[in-house]
Amino acid sequence: MNAVRNIVILTGAGISAESGLRTFRADDGLWEDHPIEQVATPEGFARDPDLVQRFYDQRRTDIRAARPNAAHEALGRLDQEWAKGEHGDLLIVTQNIDDLHERGGARRVLHMHGEGLSAWCTACGARVRWEGTLRDGPPCPSCGAAALRPDIVWFGEMPYAMERIFAAIAACDLFVSIGTSGAVYPAAGFVQEASRAGARTLELNLERSLGSAMFDETRLGPASELVPAWVDDLLDPRETG
Ligand code: APR
Repeated sequence: MNAVRNIVILTGAGISAESGLRTFRADDGLWEDHPIEQVATPEGFARDPDLVQRFYDQRRTDIRAARPNAAHEALGRLDQEWAKGEHGDLLIVTQNIDDLHERGGARRVLHMHGEGLSAWCTACGARVRWEGTLRDGPPCPSCGAAALRPDIVWFGEMPYAMERIFAAIAACDLFVSIGTSGAVYPAAGFVQEASRAGARTLELNLERSLGSAMFDETRLGPASELVPAWVDDLLDPRETG
């Protein structure tokens, strides 16, 4: 009988790195070529909307060309298995804007920083799936206004679904962080919330992160190896969790 009941999994860019999507703070990271202020703030969008639209057009193209890797698929398997039998809840909170968790089979996914394949109408508030370019100011399918922006949470904006995330963390007994540097709040503080809730905390990352000292356990290595191994152990009926 597995002692673990309710699981919250936080993922960052590192889980999609082996799918070919760039992370942010590595030497070849996205923020090296594109300063955050220019492409990931409301001020940057107001200053040069075409630059920002081009940046997210490229993200959308990269996302569509990428494939889920073994880590995404392992979490998809875990999500579906955990929904059966006497298990408790599971929630994947991702900072990533790609849809590789969903394409890897996960169902219970929250994109706290928004989604690359979604557009948000600043005129009527509609959010629509969007796979093409936003550069030529296409009309909003809902209201017709040429007012669509990337549905991304930029620096200075409030991440999505924070109440639901904190409620899940307060109720969890296992918190697992995968592929994130622990550089950006509020996500970087989730591990402390989980510890306060009495949960066991585990970090799976390529290298030590800014938050490693706050975890009960840190395992270092590529997500495509660490995550399937962790899921196999968790789903092994002989495991006590
Ligand atoms: N397997 C596991 N971890 C990896 C891998 C891999 N193959 N490759 C890289 N990593 C780790 C790195 O060691 C690093 O700790 O993933 C982390 C990536 O860190 P960042 O580039 O800072 O990305 P992330 O933590 O997701 O950034 C958080 O910051 O800029 C904002 O909104 C943006 O959502 C992003 C947030």
